[in-house]
Amino acid sequence: MRKFLLGLLFVSMIQAKAQTPMITPAPVSMQIQNGQAFELNQQTQIVADPFFAAQASYLQAAIQEQTGLSLKIGKKSSPASQIQLVKTAAVAQPEAYQVQIAQNNIVLSAADIRGIVNSIQSLLQLLPLQKTATVSIPALKITDYPRFAYRGMHLDVVRHFFPVDYIKKYIDYLTFHKFNTFHWHLTDDQGWRIEMHSYPKLNSIGSWRDSTLIGHFKDTPARYERVRYGGYYTKKEIKEVIAYANIRGITIIPEIDIPGHSRATITAYPEFSTDPNNKWGVAATWGMYNRQNNVLSPNPKTFAFLRAVFHELADLFPSPYIHLGGDECSKLWWKQSAEAQAFIKANNLKDEFGLQTYFIQQVSKYLAEKGRKVIGWHEIMEGKLDTSTIVMNWGNDAKAVEAAEKGYAIIMTPGKPYYFDHYQSKDPKDSLAIHGYNPLEAVYLYEPVPAGVRKKSLSAKIMGGQANVWTEYMGYTTKVDYMVFPRMTAVSETLWSQPEKKNYNDFVNRVKTNIIPRYQYWNSSWFPDFEKWRKE
Ligand code: ACM
Repeated sequence: MRKFLLGLLFVSMIQAKAQTPMITPAPVSMQIQNGQAFELNQQTQIVADPFFAAQASYLQAAIQEQTGLSLKIGKKSSPASQIQLVKTAAVAQPEAYQVQIAQNNIVLSAADIRGIVNSIQSLLQLLPLQKTATVSIPALKITDYPRFAYRGMHLDVVRHFFPVDYIKKYIDYLTFHKFNTFHWHLTDDQGWRIEMHSYPKLNSIGSWRDSTLIGHFKDTPARYERVRYGGYYTKKEIKEVIAYANIRGITIIPEIDIPGHSRATITAYPEFSTDPNNKWGVAATWGMYNRQNNVLSPNPKTFAFLRAVFHELADLFPSPYIHLGGDECSKLWWKQSAEAQAFIKANNLKDEFGLQTYFIQQVSKYLAEKGRKVIGWHEIMEGKLDTSTIVMNWGNDAKAVEAAEKGYAIIMTPGKPYYFDHYQSKDPKDSLAIHGYNPLEAVYLYEPVPAGVRKKSLSAKIMGGQANVWTEYMGYTTKVDYMVFPRMTAVSETLWSQPEKKNYNDFVNRVKTNIIPRYQYWNSSWFPDFEKWRKE
């Protein structure tokens, strides 16, 4: 009997040892250590290097919310049971961290804010998602760092506008998944969503449309909900969001999209249009490229406007990079415009493509006056730009090769499979999306360094990737959640984890056992049928 019991004990010890916790995105290394587990309870205190004071408070609040345990933030020598946040140069790589769990303490160490935030995300995944008096965490060592320097998620708040609370929640999603950048798409044909003091009609007129398309934009006849729709974030709200993101190690890259996608602008200020006598109206429908989305006209008033608004943007956002759009600017309007043609001639520009480059160069100059650099959609490389410009490639692999050969750093955001406005199933009853088919498996298996770039030994030009969330067919926050989860989780693993750590079946298993409970904890929606719909 005794032997039997000992045997049982042995088996359970082996099982305990073998049970390595699940963390997503998969860390570089995670090893169960010899020794007793750590007991987290109400007596445990958080002790932090002053550099990580804000993150200590963040951790305190996160543990309280998740487990109900209300931990004190203590002084270094006092408490017996500690979670330490240690700043160390030994963890050298940007955003890297270590977690060491032993009987008496948990040590989170990193050299920078993002690193410590990442360590906190891993620790939170080791705690239950329920109220508890005590948690036993096995002795464990995690060593972890990201594969790519840029790991982003985008959100279009123009086609549909979401409250500040949801923007913060979205930033929490990014933090949990160890992304480091939120790309905030703030202006487009359908509205201007940021308070501007230099040109107030951008808000009083440009932030509002008188109706919104119902159904798909290809439906005929088109139907509209005739209700005034819109709004914008005040500077106060934006500062609040930036501060919130800062604590979480998230950089916000704001985008004002020029010289196309400008109907909100030219509705407010027709004098910036190539056709100022037309009554444009803030767009009420989608999919406007080359048809109705008139563009900015190159005149002195337009350039004064661009300088002022990009300066206001740079004064608000601390990001070293600002996004100026540059995508889908139809050349049709400049071809038809006497003013644009005269400008092309007077400035010795080759053609309308040269004019597009002129716009990008001017705004780059305005941003340089504020010490900022430029990101733009891949169309910006139609002309020659400073190679410190970052190309956000939403096109195919050939575009990435072209950008790399021209010397630009590149962020990969390919429509297939990183556009989350595309369908994730082929179920005709699935909730309306723009088109396409980007199921979870395709998203997970996507490799951000294209073979053509690798072949030319230019892989270092790929800074990372980003999934884009265009919200034409996402009128409310639960729909955004449904479209991004679990695909956002898949992107996070591709951008963070080493390729040899990736395994789709294992990932799906983690989504089911660990990640869906997290979506539920957030009270968020997700697409439930992800296992059924496979990569083509
Ligand atoms: C884009 O999808 N027009 C960047």
